[in-house]
Amino acid sequence: MQTHVLDLLSTTVLLLNQDGGIEDCNTAAQDLLGRSKRHIVGQMAISLFENDVDLAQSFHLACTGVLQGRRQGAVLYRPNEHIEVSLTTMSLLQQPWAAIIEIKPIEHRLVVDRTQRLVDEINTQHALLSNLAHEVKNPLGGLRGAAQLLEAELSEARLTEYTQVIISEADRLQALVDRLAVPQTLPREWENLNIHEVCDRVAALIQAEFPVVRLTRDYDASIPEIRGDSQRLVQALLNVARNAAQELTVAPLTATPHIVIRTRVARRVALRDRQHKLAVVVSVIDNGPGVPESLQDRIFHPLVTGREGGTGLGLSISQDLIQQHGGVLEFDSRAQCTEFRMMLPLEPA
Ligand SMILES: Nc1ncnc2c1ncn2[C@@H]1O[C@H](COP(=O)(O)OP(=O)(O)OP(=O)(O)O)[C@@H](O)[C@H]1O
Ligand SMILES: [Mg+2]
Repeated sequence: MQTHVLDLLSTTVLLLNQDGGIEDCNTAAQDLLGRSKRHIVGQMAISLFENDVDLAQSFHLACTGVLQGRRQGAVLYRPNEHIEVSLTTMSLLQQPWAAIIEIKPIEHRLVVDRTQRLVDEINTQHALLSNLAHEVKNPLGGLRGAAQLLEAELSEARLTEYTQVIISEADRLQALVDRLAVPQTLPREWENLNIHEVCDRVAALIQAEFPVVRLTRDYDASIPEIRGDSQRLVQALLNVARNAAQELTVAPLTATPHIVIRTRVARRVALRDRQHKLAVVVSVIDNGPGVPESLQDRIFHPLVTGREGGTGLGLSISQDLIQQHGGVLEFDSRAQCTEFRMMLPLEPA
């Protein structure tokens, strides 16, 4: 009778027994979990979520009758994807059930605002840097040319050491300037493409460059073709995977360096300024040390690097290329588990 009333709610409700098993759920739960009630009831509530000690403790306290109500974030598993949710757990007294859990997907608007802000910020910085690069390009050519002429005139061979410094530094700057322009200068070829061909290409390149890294491919074979530019996507994914491989191969190695390239379909995803019914998620997961805390807020900005010899352009270029596909690049990082996710819309809502 009560569950009938709960079916009127848009919030997902799970009712638990003393052991943390699900005794009942409402219709919204079946929608959110993408499973029928028959497949939900009888499961342990905790098994629906990503491993989380805090959450397990809340469920335990709630089921043993001592939790008045606690709200927290969690990651919920759905077939082929996981989504961020906010949930409230509470003990029930004098009821047929021991505890109740209410689950709401995280406000899409918030996520949209956050990614849109990032996109705006990076676009501004890119415009600024592209202008600067453009200004630097011409004098740089002149500088290099003059050094070459000077070198030809030099009577003492040992003096060419100096002109060579000018030439090689000019070349280094030129390469930087050229990389800044990559997102704009790659030829644009929009086509229907198989995302797994992009992943295979990147896997092969990484494997050739970093033979010590164990690379696993975990593909969802049901992903349909997407519209995009394969050269741009290869470049975007390669930058991300190369970072992972570089982090993994900095001595001393603590564990076997391992990268997983994973593809999944995500449903109801907020990307940039709109909601999409379906998106392809390409993840690059590594077991390296993780992105340093001090860089986490700025990592997609150009010229931000934590790596010796790094220019800090890789991720900002990737972000730009993914954005050209209407998607976003995001990440989660902790020691031994860093995941960069390329989210590409499959179809507009
Ligand atoms: N998988 C990862 N694990 C840990 N840190 C990472 C990872 N990916 C990126 N980083 C950090 O983010 C920084 C920025 O990466 P980005 O690719 O933008 O620049 P870079 O690798 O330093 O230089 P570039 O790619 O231009 O050669 C890196 O220097 C590194 O500190
Ligand atoms: Mg890089």
